[in-house]
Amino acid sequence: MKKVVLAYSGGLDTSVAIHWLKARGYEVIAYMADVGQEKTTHAAIERAKKAGASKVVVKDLKKKFVTDYIWPALKAGAIYEGRYTLATALSRPLIAAEQVAVAHAERATAVGHGCTGKGNDQVRFEVTTQALDGTLEILAPVREWEFKSREEEIAYAHKHGIPIDVTKKSPFSIDKNIWGVSVEAGVLEDPNVEPPAESFQWTQGAEKRNLREKTVEIQFEGGVPVGLGGRKIEPLKLIAELNDLGARYGIGRMDMIENRLVGIKSRETYEAPAATILLQAHKDLESLVLDRELLHYKEGISLKYAELVYYGLWFTPLRQALDAFIETTQKKVTGTVRVKLRKYSSHVVGRKSPYSLYKESLATYSEKDKFDQKLAKGFIDLWALPYKK
Ligand code: ARG
Repeated sequence: MKKVVLAYSGGLDTSVAIHWLKARGYEVIAYMADVGQEKTTHAAIERAKKAGASKVVVKDLKKKFVTDYIWPALKAGAIYEGRYTLATALSRPLIAAEQVAVAHAERATAVGHGCTGKGNDQVRFEVTTQALDGTLEILAPVREWEFKSREEEIAYAHKHGIPIDVTKKSPFSIDKNIWGVSVEAGVLEDPNVEPPAESFQWTQGAEKRNLREKTVEIQFEGGVPVGLGGRKIEPLKLIAELNDLGARYGIGRMDMIENRLVGIKSRETYEAPAATILLQAHKDLESLVLDRELLHYKEGISLKYAELVYYGLWFTPLRQALDAFIETTQKKVTGTVRVKLRKYSSHVVGRKSPYSLYKESLATYSEKDKFDQKLAKGFIDLWALPYKK
C-alpha cells in the first residue's frame, strides 16, 4: 500500500481527508506540526485515528520556527505590502520541510495537505516539497474532492464515523502561530465591512479596556531580541510576553486587501502584537547603527525578502543569498530600544547602542558643535555642478 504523510490540523477538512485518502488506497500518517497554534492536540489525535490514520506524528517546531524563520525575517525587516508580518507564510516552509523529513523516516512516497486551490499556502507547501525532494508525490484532496460545501463534508464525516466538532466552528477561517493570527472569510469577505469585535482572536476586548501608557525596553544583540527590561529571556518567552502585553493594548491589528500569488485580491485581518513591536524596534535600532547607504539599500532587500516568503520561495538560492547579506548587516544591531505602548499603537521613544553612529557633536545646534559649516559650501557647489546652468 502507498504511504502518505498528511499535514493534519485536527479540523474538518484534514480529518475528512484522512478517510478520503484511505478510501483511495493510501495508508495515511497524520502529521501535526506545533508552531504555537494553541490547539489541544489530544482530541485531534483521537479524531485522526478514528478517521483511519495508521499513525499520528506530532512535532514541536516552535523553537526552530523562531530561530530559523522568525528571527531571519525580523532581521530582514520582512513585511508584505506594507502591513502583513507574514506569520502564516513563514510557518509553511517549516511545516513542509519537517513533513518531508517525516516522509523519509516513515518511508512514505507521498505527502498531502489540506489547502484549497485558491490560496497561497498550497503553493508554499508544494514548492517546499519539490525543492527538498522532487520524487515525492503530492496530494491535495481539498482541491480535488467532490464536496461542494461544508455541509456535504460534515455529512461524509457522520456517515463514516469521523468525530467532528461542529458546534465550536468559528464563522472565520483562522490560522494561528506564535508570530501572529490570520483571519479571513465570513463577513470579512466584504472589504467594506468593519471587522466585528468577535473576529479578533488575541486583541479582543482592547476597545473596552482602560489602559495607561506603558514603556517596554527591548535589548537586541546582533539583530535579535534577547531581553526585556534588562532581563535576559529566551526567544519563545520573549515573543509570548510581548504578544500578551501588546494584545491587551490592541497593538498589531491589520486590516488589509492583499494580492495573493494566484492572482486574487483578498481581505484578511491580522493580529501580530509581538511582531509589530519587534519589527518597529529593530528597524529603529538599525537607523542608529547602520550608515545611510546600507540602510537605504536594505529597504529594497526587505521588500524582496517579504515577497520571497509570501510567494513560498523560502528554499531557494536567492533567499539564502539575501540571508547572507542581511547577516553581515546585523553585527552591530545591538542595543536597547524603548517602546511606548498606547491603545492600538506602539512608538519608539528612545534608543541606544555601543555601535551608535549618532554623534552629538555633529548634530547639535549648541556650543558643543564640532561640525565645520564652512565645508558645506564646497560640497553643495560640487553636488549642484551637473545641474548648474
Ligand atoms: N493571507 C495569508 C497568507 O497568505 C494567510 C493565509 C491563511 N489565512 C487564514 N485565515 N486561514 O499568508
